[in-house]
Amino acid sequence: MKGLVLSGGKGTRLRPITHTINKHLIPLANKPMIHYPIETLRNAGITDIGIIVGHTEEKIKEIKNAIGDGSQFGVKVTYIEQDVPGGLAHAVKVAKEFLMTDNPDKKFILHLGDNIVKGGIKKYVESFENGDMDSIILLKDVPNPSRFGVAEIKDGKIVRLVEKPTVAPNNFALVGIYMFNDSIFDPIENLKPSWRNELEITDAIQGLIDSGKKVVHHIIDVEWWKDPGDTEGILEANSLLLDDIIPFNKGTVEEGAVIIGKVGIDEGTIIKSGSSVKGPALIGKNCVIGKNAYIGPHTSIGNNTVIENAEIESSVIIGDSKISCKQRIIDSLIGRNVTISEASENLPRGASQLVVGEHSVVKI
Ligand code: G1P
Repeated sequence: MKGLVLSGGKGTRLRPITHTINKHLIPLANKPMIHYPIETLRNAGITDIGIIVGHTEEKIKEIKNAIGDGSQFGVKVTYIEQDVPGGLAHAVKVAKEFLMTDNPDKKFILHLGDNIVKGGIKKYVESFENGDMDSIILLKDVPNPSRFGVAEIKDGKIVRLVEKPTVAPNNFALVGIYMFNDSIFDPIENLKPSWRNELEITDAIQGLIDSGKKVVHHIIDVEWWKDPGDTEGILEANSLLLDDIIPFNKGTVEEGAVIIGKVGIDEGTIIKSGSSVKGPALIGKNCVIGKNAYIGPHTSIGNNTVIENAEIESSVIIGDSKISCKQRIIDSLIGRNVTISEASENLPRGASQLVVGEHSVVKI
């Protein structure tokens, strides 16, 4: 059985971060988001994985840099180019040759690159491998079903799937992890673009159901499932992942620095005397946490970052940045190469000076 992970999409709800970074590479607990689906597939025994990448050279390069040939995960990765952002079903169509070659049972699993489940999917993969179904789809009870594809179930069977319904028939959202055999390519061939001008995988599964194929669903019992599509989602997923870290210290903690709870400190990082870090928190490589800085719970700080005087809590600092103001920063997502400092002395008292890019959000 092969795997397919998608890394396309514009990530518009994560602008301005996604102006310069692929959504799937935003770090969660200091690891690119797309690493989690690859690990989930590997942990379920799937080691031959196709990665769908967008068509610009830059996009392909940044994804390749983050994943390589897959050996760091113990898998073999093949990159497949999607020339237009045509939707999830279009991505499957583009990957047909990869998915159907050297794959005797013609079964595969599609895992969206922005979906993370805690606890794995091994038992579902095994039941698909050993069973005679044409597809397994995974569902999860959610409070906001209109944001997802939703499955209407009658007498234990799925009768209808609707993508982003205005009024949802129930709360069972389609998790972005789907198992198929080669029968999925028939309905994909006949799909028409949806209102968002995409070939929807939801419509292709509806096609399987309509033609009497065996589509089985499971309401997943994983501890949590997230598809972080906006800042709130990123912070939430980051926080959940940090809850599970194993503390480590590869850096230097000076005497007089306070470390409380589960904290990971990476190589070359210095936690200076007079600062404090309260976990769960991760601090990347070559960072300086200076005097009077406070790093609070559920915060990840990426490599090469300096924090002085500031208090930062429940936030993701992607890296290569300097934050040196006497401010409390909470629930924030801060991109690369950012400077946040005290206002200079020649500004009027209480004034702030900002250089802020398109689609930024500043609350002061
Ligand atoms: C996609 C699917 C949707 C599914 C969701 C899960 O939505 O179209 O059915 O519930 O992934 O993450 P999208 O992320 O494209 O909005």
